[in-house]
Amino acid sequence: MNSITPQEQDFSPTSSSTVNPKADTKHSVLVCQYRSCEKNGSAAVLAAFESGEIPGVEVTGSNCLGQCSTGPTVRVLPEETWYCRVQPQDVPEVIERHLLHGKPVARLLHPRFHPYAQYYIP
Ligand code: FES
Repeated sequence: MNSITPQEQDFSPTSSSTVNPKADTKHSVLVCQYRSCEKNGSAAVLAAFESGEIPGVEVTGSNCLGQCSTGPTVRVLPEETWYCRVQPQDVPEVIERHLLHGKPVARLLHPRFHPYAQYYIP
């Protein structure tokens, strides 16, 4: 059993962070690098976002985002979009559709935060 309560979890970014210096930051992408997500490949997900060098997007590895059973978890700010079970091969689609063109990837949205997304996001 996990002994860390939500109140004890540290949601702050870890020291791993990349910012594209060519543009002002429009989005921040947090990729959980904590226990469950790490076991499910979140390091490769973070690397895929970092290699994208997306204009205006800050990519950061984070501590637990509180969605451990559905990781790897990715949170996009400031709009509070939550993705679950993200794999490295999903990252190019998130970059192209969401970060570059403002359309979230419905099939990856976390149902806890976006319960009806599949009905209104093409
Ligand atoms: S371990 Fe990633 S959300 Fe908790």
